[in-house]
Amino acid sequence: MTETNQVRIAILGLGTVGGGVYQLFQSQKDSLEAKTGLSAEIAAILVRDVKKPREGIAPSLLTDNFDDILHDETIDIIVEVMGGIEPARTYITEALHAGKNVVTANKDLMATHGGELLDLAQEVGRDLLFEASVAGGIPIIRPMKQCLAGNRITEVMGIVNGTTNYILTKMDDEGMEFSDALAKATELGYAEADPTADIEGYDAGRKLAILASIAFHSRVTFRDVYTEGISHITAADIRYVKDMGCVIKLVAIARETEKGIEASVQPMLLPADHPLASVKDVFNAVFVRGDAVGETMFYGRGAGRFPTASACMGDIIDVMRNIRFYCTGRIGCGCYRHVPIEPMKETVQRYFLRMQVADRPGVLAAIASVLGGVGVSIKQVVQKPTKAGQAELVLITDQVKEKDFLDALERFKSMTDMIQDISSLIRVHE
Ligand code: NAP
Ligand code: HSE
Repeated sequence: MTETNQVRIAILGLGTVGGGVYQLFQSQKDSLEAKTGLSAEIAAILVRDVKKPREGIAPSLLTDNFDDILHDETIDIIVEVMGGIEPARTYITEALHAGKNVVTANKDLMATHGGELLDLAQEVGRDLLFEASVAGGIPIIRPMKQCLAGNRITEVMGIVNGTTNYILTKMDDEGMEFSDALAKATELGYAEADPTADIEGYDAGRKLAILASIAFHSRVTFRDVYTEGISHITAADIRYVKDMGCVIKLVAIARETEKGIEASVQPMLLPADHPLASVKDVFNAVFVRGDAVGETMFYGRGAGRFPTASACMGDIIDVMRNIRFYCTGRIGCGCYRHVPIEPMKETVQRYFLRMQVADRPGVLAAIASVLGGVGVSIKQVVQKPTKAGQAELVLITDQVKEKDFLDALERFKSMTDMIQDISSLIRVHE
């Protein structure tokens, strides 16, 4: 802080989010003193390439040397919006050791190394806030850590990836195939040049790891989350699912049961009247169930320049208030216990199964018998002839332990005279 009590802020990264934070900060600057009791200024911005033209940014603010920021004792808050694990992890660690507070939007980092960084922040009595790391502009981390602190949270379920929600919406509303919907998402700038993390569920898995750790007060990392993407979903699946009164969404879901924490991201059938079924396009929503509050839902823009900057700016303002009252580090890591992770194969699920089968007597009975052998009953079944002697069989099962269902699938694979192809397998919510 300067001698005149002005908080000084450095931004690490000036891309989509960093540029948004800079612009939003400038537009909010004059009201900060009224909101927090302190004034503030942006003192430095770290980028890779200082020569790149940056509209509206004074070149004197830019540096490509983190040490310029680290060793500047007047800088109180570092806003890390570079992304990736390194050097972000090292920079945040060094910044906390140097007594600086940190705001970050980095889900990759927090989902893997959040525990160690939060412990360090607590040890040095500084804030490490990360509201923007999950669901962009939607307030969810602070509500869970603070407003819902009086609850035992039993379930967190959400649509936390905008790109995949856009793709599935296009497939559902316009009958597009996955590849065409992905091309449209890329054209509109929603999907990144390499969309793997979005479409394979890794981005949602990282966000779920962060949410589950907060919800259950036990550290869940990205490696603990089962992830499955949406690239195998076809327009044919969507048509059948629609006829059955459901939609397919990429659902991130974490529950605490008597056996431990279940955490998974997968495409899932939701009834059309489920609150998450009407979350469309790039919007996100998170559904939280607490023992006292019951069901709550948070909805809004999960990504983008200003929605994400909005979350970072909220964190900056919170840190400024804490600086003013000498209480940084007030809300640290909430993981005070260890709950085991329940492996996916031990969880209980329902399934949507689409198969190409021989169209002759006894086939359906044989399939039902294999499922019956693992204790599964069929809830719903549709059979449509496709070509001579063949039919498409679509069924929805009752609840079954995943490992038992996988055993039944292995049996199906050996029934080659009856089952030509298992075209789709999608989990069904409850
Ligand atoms: P981006 O557009 O790629 O911007 C990254 C910025 O960081 C660039 O300005 C880049 O510098 C700088 N940078 C990267 N590595 C650096 C290094 N080693 N040293 C110095 N500067 C470096 O990324 P973004 O979309 O803004 O995302 C930033 C973070 O926010 C990520 O953690 C992301 O997961 C998170 N986030 C993003 C969104 C979103 O909607 N985009 C939403 C929520 C959270 P140059 O300009 O010189 O290349
Ligand atoms: N790629 C993410 C999404 C945005 O599509 O939701 C960054 O969190």
